[in-house]
Amino acid sequence: ALRDNTTIIVLGASGDLAKKKTYPALFGLFKMGFLPKDVHIIGYARTKMDEAEAHKRITSYIKVNDDETKEKLEQFKKFTSYVDGAYDQDEPFQKLNKYIEGFESKFSGPGNRLFYLALPPSVFIPVARGLRKNTYGKGINRIVVEKPFGKDTDSYRELASAMKEQWSEDETYRIDHYLGKEMVKNMLVLRFANIALASSWDKNSISNVQITFKEAIGTEGRGGYFDEFGIIRDILQNHLLQVLSVLTMERPVSFSAEDVRDEKVKVLRAIPPIAREDTLLGQYVAANGKPGYLDDETVPPNSPCPTFAATTLWIHNPRWEGVPFILKAGKALNEGKVEIRIQFKDVTQGIFKDIARNELVIRIQPNEAVYLKLNTKMPGLYTRTIPIEMDMTYKRRFSDQKIPEAYESLILDALKGDHSNFVRDDELDVAWKIFTPILHWTEGRDGPAPRPVPYPYGSRGPKELDSFTGKYGYKRVDNSGYSWPVTNLS
Ligand code: BG6
Repeated sequence: ALRDNTTIIVLGASGDLAKKKTYPALFGLFKMGFLPKDVHIIGYARTKMDEAEAHKRITSYIKVNDDETKEKLEQFKKFTSYVDGAYDQDEPFQKLNKYIEGFESKFSGPGNRLFYLALPPSVFIPVARGLRKNTYGKGINRIVVEKPFGKDTDSYRELASAMKEQWSEDETYRIDHYLGKEMVKNMLVLRFANIALASSWDKNSISNVQITFKEAIGTEGRGGYFDEFGIIRDILQNHLLQVLSVLTMERPVSFSAEDVRDEKVKVLRAIPPIAREDTLLGQYVAANGKPGYLDDETVPPNSPCPTFAATTLWIHNPRWEGVPFILKAGKALNEGKVEIRIQFKDVTQGIFKDIARNELVIRIQPNEAVYLKLNTKMPGLYTRTIPIEMDMTYKRRFSDQKIPEAYESLILDALKGDHSNFVRDDELDVAWKIFTPILHWTEGRDGPAPRPVPYPYGSRGPKELDSFTGKYGYKRVDNSGYSWPVTNLS
């Protein structure tokens, strides 16, 4: 349950993540009435600024388009303050501690503290240490952290053990914000509350699965930062692998955090490291007046860093043996979209020929939807089949419902102490094992780095993509305008 007597401390309050995600989510929760009673939110960062400047910054991404929001925002500012201080010294954290105690003295019981680290990885450890030593409260203490959690198996383990010296697993909340997205959360319900889906959820019915992340913009402005990571670490190893694990795990004993995470770890452990042959890498080049990745001055000349990657994973268990799971992600593509596409096998041939495959598409964003492509008889005095869509578009079906932001949902979970949608330490360890070999290969650690295939800014990706997915049995079902070739029943 949500605990009153809570103080939320946002470390890195002057940075991008805090201003774009953390504070808007905190405000969203406040507006919907989901923050603890008498909560106080304290921003902490190195930048020296007065209250007015701090308020201006932390509210700059909050949309105010009506009087009610405007009024709520004024109330929000009243319990939101800012303290500046270093990340690597005890004294400023002790000062912060005194400051928090000031608010806690009005509480009826011991104060609970939620530390949210909106910080670059270089200061994770000193801050985790400084907080634990100097700013640990008398009630329940929790720490929220977000990627990057290392760069490969070894660096992850180093980071994890340094963090564990300070904070227990139970106190730690590792964010992968994809787990907070409404449609990703819906996966458990879709899968385990529907016999009709559950019984076809295996190698007997499914031919191949694609999990796709597309962004229409490049790395503009943060190419130098991106280059250290690349698209595989930025998207595949975390966001898409998380989606894969909820899509493929066995039914958990219950929806409790440990039961769910046990199943996720189990299915991930059945995935061997990705093979080079199962990988397609791309890098965008200038087109349509947009700059190429290498045109960014902050990117090292001739960098082999992929901005697009498609990789195929295999799960060695009885449910999934032989089914290819294609994870693909790219920047500077023709559209922005995240979806899961489950392609079923061909229907037994004989009475039909060239009939479209069934596909279940789960669109995570934008415009959440689940639709199932089925074949049906074209109405009329003849017998023809056409593929149609059974479509649950949220905007139509749930038109009055507000879909929460991922960070709203996750911060609320952290306040409640629910770990289900946070990443457990052993989950990350397996995730890194799956990706570390190809990461080392793409970085030229085991010989020359492979050169990613160039693709034009704004295109669908490398032109090799269709033959790549085709290799794993994916057949494109094109029913734009229901123009699938009409088939006569014989
Ligand atoms: C972040 C990546 O984790 O996710 C970004 O670092 C990416 O590169 C972002 O743009 C995408 O998140 P969302 O919620 O906009 O899909």
